[in-house]
Amino acid sequence: MREHVSAFEDTFGESAVPVRAFFSPGRVNLMGAHLDYNGGPVMPMAIDRGTFFAVRARSDRRVRFSSSLEPGELEFDLDRLPRERAGRWFDYPLGVLRILAAERRTACGFDLMFGGNLPVGAGLSSSASICVGTAFVLDTLWALELAPRQRVDAALRAEREFVGVHCGIMDPFAVGFARNGALLWLDCKDGSIEHLPLDHAAVGVAVADSGVRRELAQGAFNQRVAEAQEAFALLGPHAPGAQVLRDVPLEVLQRFEHRLPPVIARRARHVLEEVARTFIAREALLAGDSARFGAQMSAAHRSLRELYEVSVPELDCLVDAAVSAPGVLGARLTGAGFGGCVVILMQRAQSERAMARIADEFARQFGRIPSVRFFGGDSGPREIVLG
Ligand code: GLA
Repeated sequence: MREHVSAFEDTFGESAVPVRAFFSPGRVNLMGAHLDYNGGPVMPMAIDRGTFFAVRARSDRRVRFSSSLEPGELEFDLDRLPRERAGRWFDYPLGVLRILAAERRTACGFDLMFGGNLPVGAGLSSSASICVGTAFVLDTLWALELAPRQRVDAALRAEREFVGVHCGIMDPFAVGFARNGALLWLDCKDGSIEHLPLDHAAVGVAVADSGVRRELAQGAFNQRVAEAQEAFALLGPHAPGAQVLRDVPLEVLQRFEHRLPPVIARRARHVLEEVARTFIAREALLAGDSARFGAQMSAAHRSLRELYEVSVPELDCLVDAAVSAPGVLGARLTGAGFGGCVVILMQRAQSERAMARIADEFARQFGRIPSVRFFGGDSGPREIVLG
């Protein structure tokens, strides 16, 4: 974080006004794949990699954004906010600023430098990290006294309304309501949350990055959202009282499956079986049965590969290598898929050997060494006091 503050001073210069530093985590999702926009339960965990913010208040109404990770700067006046998105990284914080400025009283201008240690586009939710983090920074800087839910809503609206991504609610909730040492249980039908403890001393969460980044992943994601909507439009009328696809009983799918287009039937089967698996995973976690929890993760990956069709060979290779390595309890792709990362639950005692085996097997098949690392859990966005 010190280096980040130095980068801020290199860009914006030094002054007597102190620079304040903030951190906002990324997330992995352990269970509940592609359930958020179907109203199902999800189990994400914030990770100890994320976005760094260094900010300094100004005496005028100017705002300057810069990044140590990406080129391009943005400068504007708080009384004349840019209206159009630019298709650049700063659309995310600008979207949050626009939402808050429309509803609240803005105070001073500021200089803000973004950075961090979260791979972008890897399915670890760098966008929710930057959006919820920006809401937190502005809340602190302008003393808005927002509730956590208001910061999460501002982040969600910024992505949906300004950046134009039709994302589900999981990612900003995972960042905004994170608690260290716990998985978040979020019911996406009513937005209710619980924190479920994970025994970090015995089991660890590792993340293996396939290195695959898909430019067109957003289009494929939106297509899955549309297919799930179609599944609900076809099945909903046979399930009285169902408000979202998650509410449709599995028996109803079984009865009407043959009448659905085969692709839609596969998508619906994934969603309904994943809901059941996520409830089993919850019970297993509460009972301290990490082997059973891990088995649900591996079953989820099979379903993501065969029924939801969002995996790629690199992710399958990492999952296959993981589940056959010593001490691994379960593995699956995390995030939307189409590339990005695999999340692996493993016993800490055997983790070094397991991680080396996974990297070796991937290198044998794809000719490059993937990063496979332990990620710790984390709490939500916060100010870092520089000592
Ligand atoms: C992406 C979306 C999330 C969620 C996951 C799939 O990460 O941003 O809202 O739908 O995919 O579980």
